[in-house]
Amino acid sequence: MEIFKTIAALQGHLQNPDRKKPVGLVPTMGALHSGHLTLIETAKAQTATVVCSIFVNPTQFTDTTDLDKYPRPIEADIEKLKQAKCDILFMPDVQEMYPQKEYWHLDIGEIEHRLEGRFRPGHYQGVMQIVYKLFIAVKPDFAFFGQKDFQQVKVVEKMVELKSLPVKLVMCPIIREADGLAMSSRNIHLSTEERKHALVLSYALHQLKKSYVKEASAELVKEAAEMISIEPQVQLEYLEIVNANNLDNDLSDDSKGVIALVAAKVGKTRLIDNMMLS
Ligand code: PAJ
Repeated sequence: MEIFKTIAALQGHLQNPDRKKPVGLVPTMGALHSGHLTLIETAKAQTATVVCSIFVNPTQFTDTTDLDKYPRPIEADIEKLKQAKCDILFMPDVQEMYPQKEYWHLDIGEIEHRLEGRFRPGHYQGVMQIVYKLFIAVKPDFAFFGQKDFQQVKVVEKMVELKSLPVKLVMCPIIREADGLAMSSRNIHLSTEERKHALVLSYALHQLKKSYVKEASAELVKEAAEMISIEPQVQLEYLEIVNANNLDNDLSDDSKGVIALVAAKVGKTRLIDNMMLS
């Protein structure tokens, strides 16, 4: 695996005619787990050169403590990527990606402000800013994202459309622990007790999926929200059933599916999860 820390070195390498196309990009913030590695695997299966980026992007953090305590086990990450036979690792530092103070804003409408957007204002502007920079640096033909961050996929999709970027997005399923907890780099912050309580999130989503009927969605959300709220150490931020196409609460045209999304703090750790219901 080749490792690059600057855009110039990465681009010099990618321009080499020996580099096979299509190029697939898997953007990450590191602390890699099987969820990330499944994205690499899918990218390996669908493209000829796989670039993984590891960059803890400061502009998408609304809370500086969260940014400071974000895990950065870079040696272990490099080892995992080598084992996954990733072709290229791009791991720039902050100065490389943000050499000067810059202004970024792209109006993508309501999709930015719903769900996560209500609790992390500005988060998706930061996500778009860095993903745009990575797309320009790598020029991937395909980019792979996890359904774990479903709203992020919708946001990036909208940016790609508005900026007419020549990249195809591929969304990969959520990888879970054996007991149902969605894998996340943040799970390592959970104590043994909190880890047990956190299971209520995936459990509630499974219950919703089992009993989902459009007409009863408000009632079902209420029940599931109560189930989550009575779990010790779990503080529910949102639980919503929305149209998977535009994240709207209006389910009258549900031809693109319906999805339940949840966010909660378990102790001090903020977790998100989701599940397609139809
Ligand atoms: P990060 O949280 O590191 O996630 C990188 C990618 O891995 C995202 O597409 C995310 O949805 C996916 N992922 C995380 N956990 C997963 C799981 N359990 N199953 C499947 N996929 C999973 O998302 C980001 O980084 C950043 O916002 C980024 C896009 C890199 C921009 O900074």
